[in-house]
Amino acid sequence: MQIVRTIQDLRDAMHQARAARQSVGLVPTMGALHEGHLSLMRSARKENDFVVASAFVNPTQFAPNEDLAQYPRRLEEDARLASGTGVSLLFAPGADEMYPPGAYATFVVQEKLTDKLCGRSRPAHFRGVLTVVAKLFHLVGPDRAYFGQKDAQQAILLRRMVEDLNFPLEVRVCPIVREKGGLAMSSRNERLAPTEREAARCLYRALSRAKEAYDAGERRGPRIIDESVGIIRAEPLARLDYFSIVDLRNLEDLETIERGALVATAACFGDTRLIDNVLLGVDRL
Ligand code: PAJ
Repeated sequence: MQIVRTIQDLRDAMHQARAARQSVGLVPTMGALHEGHLSLMRSARKENDFVVASAFVNPTQFAPNEDLAQYPRRLEEDARLASGTGVSLLFAPGADEMYPPGAYATFVVQEKLTDKLCGRSRPAHFRGVLTVVAKLFHLVGPDRAYFGQKDAQQAILLRRMVEDLNFPLEVRVCPIVREKGGLAMSSRNERLAPTEREAARCLYRALSRAKEAYDAGERRGPRIIDESVGIIRAEPLARLDYFSIVDLRNLEDLETIERGALVATAACFGDTRLIDNVLLGVDRL
């Protein structure tokens, strides 16, 4: 596996892969890799000749009061883990390489989907995500890009960006990898105190309750929410941000679930904000 730190070296490597007519898969990450990330890399490995993973803690998706400085960074271990899944090239640029001084003039902004769910408490977050992923798409030129259902709103927004801006690639969304006990794997889990980690399992318990209600035939969104959100409210260490049932395309709250739906939740445990979700009526995003 090559480790590449500059845009020029990335462009050169991609030029060679293209010249050799290799299909290209891209897995964008912020590093601190865990099984969730590795599952995306394995899927990319199966479906492409050349797999690029990126590890870049993207400053533009963090608000000034968020955890940019504390976000875990460990390139050596990430390189070992990525290499073990068969990644061909790991792109790990410095912040100045992706955003040289004076670069903060152009952003990719989505007009309709960013003020929903996580966008309400993180208003500039998705602008940063879309911008950095658009840059990676241009630099790598993948045939397929891999994202996790864990960040469902992100995946839905990115798919819309690809559609609206005609990126010639396919967005693949892979299932959520969970710890034993149901907590969705996240680089932020390691910041939880043991009691918080135990408490955080309430998210998946509540989401599972919602799915059980749906599977038992309930189709009224507010009714399903009432049945499940109490599990999070009953947890003293959880500060609920939202628990919503929304349409998969426009992220609007659903009164009645007709086709598929996304049940999404976010809550803070101490200083750590966690998100999780389940799908109703469909298997995959
Ligand atoms: P990061 O949080 O590092 O996640 C990278 C990718 O791994 C995302 O597509 C995310 O959905 C996926 N992922 C994380 N935890 C997962 C889990 N438990 N199961 C399955 N997939 C999981 O998401 C980002 O980084 C950034 O916003 C990024 C897209 C890289 C742009 O900076």
